[in-house]
Amino acid sequence: MRVLISNEKNKMIKKLIDKFKELYQSDPRVFKAPGRINIIGEHTDYNDGFVLPAAIDKHITFAINSNTLKKHRFYSIDFEQSEEVHTLETGQKVKLWAQYLMGVLAQFEKIGKLNTHFDLVFGGNIPVGAGLSSSAALECGLAKAINIISDLKLPDLELVKMAQKAEHEYAGVQCGIMDQYASVFGNENQVFKLDCRDISHQYFPLELDDYELILVNTKVKHSLASSEYNLRRQECQRGVQFYNSLNPQINALRDVNLEMVAAYPEQPDPIAYKRSKYMVEEIERVEKATQALLNKDLVELGSLLYQCHEGLSKLYEVSCPELDYLVELSLPMKQVLGSRMMGGGFGGCTLNLIHKDFISEFKSIIAQAYEKRFYKSPEFYEVEISNGASEIPIPEY
Ligand code: GLA
Repeated sequence: MRVLISNEKNKMIKKLIDKFKELYQSDPRVFKAPGRINIIGEHTDYNDGFVLPAAIDKHITFAINSNTLKKHRFYSIDFEQSEEVHTLETGQKVKLWAQYLMGVLAQFEKIGKLNTHFDLVFGGNIPVGAGLSSSAALECGLAKAINIISDLKLPDLELVKMAQKAEHEYAGVQCGIMDQYASVFGNENQVFKLDCRDISHQYFPLELDDYELILVNTKVKHSLASSEYNLRRQECQRGVQFYNSLNPQINALRDVNLEMVAAYPEQPDPIAYKRSKYMVEEIERVEKATQALLNKDLVELGSLLYQCHEGLSKLYEVSCPELDYLVELSLPMKQVLGSRMMGGGFGGCTLNLIHKDFISEFKSIIAQAYEKRFYKSPEFYEVEISNGASEIPIPEY
């Protein structure tokens, strides 16, 4: 299909293709994969719980083709850096972004489906470290591209799992499935409720009427994010072991209810207790939030967002002063129905449900206060809900 270049998005595609031709002297195919937001259900994915994410209109775009050189060649437009790898073993001294790509290629190699080498130029507009899953987009876009270019016909769910494995093995983050799933299965204008136990999803329309979701980027990313993330998994596991010793039917915090948590305060230890309490409450909040969406009860939805933040900050302890401050600032604003930190935590964005008429005032109040307190400017993003990873037609120019 031939499409005329008409907008910013296509300028990016043209830039990628030009760079690809300049570097590798061949014609690429083009793919893109989105970042994600999550309405509610934070850290619930690796506890067999529910999440309520959506893909967004911020993407990583890839120009890619196979080569016959016995090495993979990568170029990042945004970092203006290149990397070449001959093998996909872990522990090689390569740039961090290349680790993710190698991680994905390695998954195909493991199942005997990497039958060529690749040249790749990529770039995008998902802010890195903002909790919008730029790494999942990088992984999923490449997985989708290899699957199509090599005509492997692997099902999308398998690609999601391979991308998740890449993150585990090459980035050292024992992440759940949410980010990669959203990057592949996202659907325009719809959020989806994903059951992370049986890995099935159900789409819900996101009808916010006079309200909008606005992200505020703290522009901080604490280095402990990945070590604390892995630690949370272990702490939850301690909770599971304890409840399992009371009832062998319990295999995940998903199986625990509020009464059980209340019946054993501080058990098995104060930390695991707090983590379990948050988790059981949060899994229940996802149910309530989907109901609120169906009932178009945005006040209830907003209140659940605030409760979620309180839990993430006080019980799960994955927030930070910058995120807490942004949420605190919004609390007295009656045009803001809800606000919470989003994603893994320790920096990144807050998600805010705001009346449309208040957006510009909100931005200026928040920016001023935040700058005064932290000597840096926050960034604001108004995102649209978009489709998952796909090939895009090459524009004519
Ligand atoms: C990160 C992980 C996800 C999920 C979120 C928290 O984004 O990659 O799997 O656990 O944190 O909800």
